[in-house]
Amino acid sequence: MTTLPAHASGTFMLGGDLPVYRLGFGAMRITGTGIWGEPEDPAEAMRVLHRLPELGINFIDTADSYGPFVSEDLLRDGLHPYKDVVIATKGGLTRHGPNIWRPVGTPDYLRQCVMMSLRRLKVERIDLWQLHRIDGKVDREAQFQVIADMQREGLIRHVGLSEVSIEEIEAARQFFPVVSVQNLYNLVARQSEAVLDYCERENIAFIPWFPLAAGNLANEGGVLDGIAKKLNATPSQVALAWVLKRSPVMLPIPGTGKVKHLDENTHAATLTLSDEDFATLDALGKAEHERGRAN
Ligand SMILES: NC(=O)c1ccc[n+]([C@@H]2O[C@H](COP(=O)([O-])OP(=O)(O)OC[C@H]3O[C@@H](n4cnc5c(N)ncnc54)[C@H](OP(=O)(O)O)[C@@H]3O)[C@@H](O)[C@H]2O)c1
Repeated sequence: MTTLPAHASGTFMLGGDLPVYRLGFGAMRITGTGIWGEPEDPAEAMRVLHRLPELGINFIDTADSYGPFVSEDLLRDGLHPYKDVVIATKGGLTRHGPNIWRPVGTPDYLRQCVMMSLRRLKVERIDLWQLHRIDGKVDREAQFQVIADMQREGLIRHVGLSEVSIEEIEAARQFFPVVSVQNLYNLVARQSEAVLDYCERENIAFIPWFPLAAGNLANEGGVLDGIAKKLNATPSQVALAWVLKRSPVMLPIPGTGKVKHLDENTHAATLTLSDEDFATLDALGKAEHERGRAN
């Protein structure tokens, strides 16, 4: 039996009962510029989706706000009935135009998000539904309560959070088990280090968004270039191999609208970083992070 590249990243048991390969896919980039509207090349976006199972990827992250709706619609058109694939979606952000994201966490709106994602994805229950942002203008307990209600009603199997602190995760855990946390994290963006350590201790999946720093880390001549050349790999692959090695609860979801980049990124799972290279990258990344904060 051939082993598919994503399988080399190992598995994580989401919520204790949903096994996924750790290297997943972020479906935000299969939409238009500013994550608004249709993708520039819809045929290529569809080729990306069809390539996912061929590479062994079975964990896909999306959100109702990507497009909005475009990403979920394409996933349904391309992959339904989702054979052995876990689709994780999100709700709670409204869109008023390209690159504009506004949280709305009123219970009625969150319920509408879930009901509409169920329809668009054509499923009876969402495997992993993530609150995209806690809305600071709405009582957070009211937001958590409606999510707990929807889980009890069977609309949601597992619940995750996004861009949260440890204190917020613990507050949410009073209402439902938190099985995943999706925060900004990559080699040079280390502000969620304590949250990651907490997730590792609690066996909560940590889903780093921007794992490639939106492509910056992938540039020739960047911090990763030297090690990448030595390993006969690309900088993106090294960036992803580093996050994968950082923690067993790490589930990176690199995003792309191009098959070539998808293939390249997925082969990061087959790359083995030595402890020494890991430590060198760690130090470089931390220094870059500190420099970024100082500027
Ligand atoms: N929870 C949140 O608030 C939040 C926020 C942002 C994103 N996300 C999720 O996280 C996922 C990942 O984040 P992301 O897509 O913003 O960032 P990313 O994965 O770090 O980088 C994606 C960007 O890098 C480019 N890229 C990808 N692979 C490349 C390669 N091998 N070589 C060169 N360039 C490459 C892509 O362009 P091409 O399309 O041209 O390849 C795209 O512009 C998203 O898809 C989404 O699911 C969540």
